[in-house]
Amino acid sequence: MEIHTNIPLKNFTTMKLGGNARFMTEVRTPEEVVEAYRNAKAQSLPVFVLGGGSNVIAKDEGFNGLIIRMRIPGFSVIADDLNSTTVQIGAGEEWDSVVKRTVDMRLSGIEAMSAIPGTAGAAPVQNVGAYGQEIADTLVSLVAYDTQADSFVTLLNENCEFSYRQSIFRDSQIGRYIIVSITLKLSKNLPQPPFYDALQAYFDQHDVHIFTQETIRNAVIDIRSSKLPDPKLLPNSGSFFKNAIVEDWQLAELKNANPDMPTYDMGDGRFKVPSGWLIEQAGLKGQVLHGIRVNDKNAVVLINESATGYHDLAEARNEIINTVRDKFKIQIEQEPLEV
Ligand code: EPU
Repeated sequence: MEIHTNIPLKNFTTMKLGGNARFMTEVRTPEEVVEAYRNAKAQSLPVFVLGGGSNVIAKDEGFNGLIIRMRIPGFSVIADDLNSTTVQIGAGEEWDSVVKRTVDMRLSGIEAMSAIPGTAGAAPVQNVGAYGQEIADTLVSLVAYDTQADSFVTLLNENCEFSYRQSIFRDSQIGRYIIVSITLKLSKNLPQPPFYDALQAYFDQHDVHIFTQETIRNAVIDIRSSKLPDPKLLPNSGSFFKNAIVEDWQLAELKNANPDMPTYDMGDGRFKVPSGWLIEQAGLKGQVLHGIRVNDKNAVVLINESATGYHDLAEARNEIINTVRDKFKIQIEQEPLEV
């Protein structure tokens, strides 16, 4: 196992800022995960697992421990029946190539999550979602190295405690599990309307009347590329803020004051309010704060234009959070994890 030292985390995160990792290694098998973890533990070093780095922000002081870069490959059909196919996917696979492969197999369930950067193993951590699908809808189980028990465990969907952009992996059990593979059960049926508003609007506009996994994938790729900056060209980490969640009693008051405010019913008496809309209404869309640009197409995305480090991003973030709070009495929260 090759271990590298003093590696700039800005080269491994799509926001492209932050200090160095003291140690970094790549793992290509579950056994290498165990080896890397035990090595770090023997030296009392903290461990952080990195996938594509598209939802992780590195701090300026860097990471005084071992970064494990997840590179475990794999894509295999493990069950197949009349209506569904179940696939097991290595945590290090690139998420979008997994989506493409399942769409090519005419399987439905993750096609609306096309063109999301990152790795398959990172998807359950923040319960990745887009255009009406989230990984919690199709994930049957996953295999992880349980660092507490020093053994591999299979966690079922319900063990992951998924909710909007949340799971045990970034909440109650943060740092405990290293996901090595995920198992998804996908449908052989064609995707059925009703579709997510933005998707339906696209279909109407482009005269699309045949809904297949492929037409959905292509539509999503088109919508995303028109709204979300490509991290390869403009450093960013997708939605920088989670959408705000408000209770129904708060909603009435907000709607009164802002009749045009878009909202999504979460079905449990709570409503999502798009942070992009809140930031735009607070007058920040397109502005540059401390070298960080609030994206002018969707204000929920922050672009690192000329930040000199994490401290600039943190100041910009805090100003945005405070401005939104002062205007709407809503506290928006950062989505990416920090190392
Ligand atoms: N809006 C504005 N101004 C803005 C941004 C949005 O008015 O600057 C309005 C839009 O017009 C629309 C609503 O807000 O009415 C929602 O916007 P959009 O459909 O673009 O989606 P979003 O809520 O900003 C979420 C996810 C995205 C995901 C899209 C599509 C979060 C934090 N973000 O964005 O996920 O791709 O829905 O499903 O949940 C990510 O997490 O990194 C991400 C990109």
